[in-house]
Amino acid sequence: MNPAAALELLQAHSPAGETWPIHCRQVARVARCIADALIEVGSDVDADAIEAQSLVHDIGRSVNHGYLHGWEGFQLMEKLGHAATGRGCIMHWLKGRSREELLQSKIPGEFLEQVLACLDPPQWQLADSVISLADSSVAGVQIVPLAFRHEDLRKRYGASAWLDRHAELADQHAVQISAALGYDVAQILAPLYGTQL
Ligand SMILES: [Fe+2]
Repeated sequence: MNPAAALELLQAHSPAGETWPIHCRQVARVARCIADALIEVGSDVDADAIEAQSLVHDIGRSVNHGYLHGWEGFQLMEKLGHAATGRGCIMHWLKGRSREELLQSKIPGEFLEQVLACLDPPQWQLADSVISLADSSVAGVQIVPLAFRHEDLRKRYGASAWLDRHAELADQHAVQISAALGYDVAQILAPLYGTQL
């Protein structure tokens, strides 16, 4: 699915007055900038696929805003024939945690296996890190430093070990992307802070 089609799908599932679709578009902007920079240094990431996945990563919020919105989003995308583009819906939720780590969370084991079985490929990819980092760089509709976003999540959902790990993983994804770029990804992110669509 190309970004234009993903945007159309996002808009078709955007209830009036909701801000999460704007969040999705901001995440897609950030992800696209990172993906383009990776391609410039020779990475083979697919920038269009990354942008499309980012645009719909929260589309499950059109069904509900609970912790399962990632799964709802993937199911919606799968039903529409776009399971590959729905990958970001699952990945921004699981954030690169291993199966072993997830089995120790509150997610029921049988359900978790059902979710993991939907991932093709099953391994975490550099593209997943790009979407994860982009999502962790947008608080509401604002592009912000990672620490600000983590604090915003704790305020909205309450501090938890899950969110602490979420923050840790986003920091790791930033390090991984910086290593792939050969320079600090903050150089790409910083000029975007505070910018609107
Ligand atoms: Fe998001």
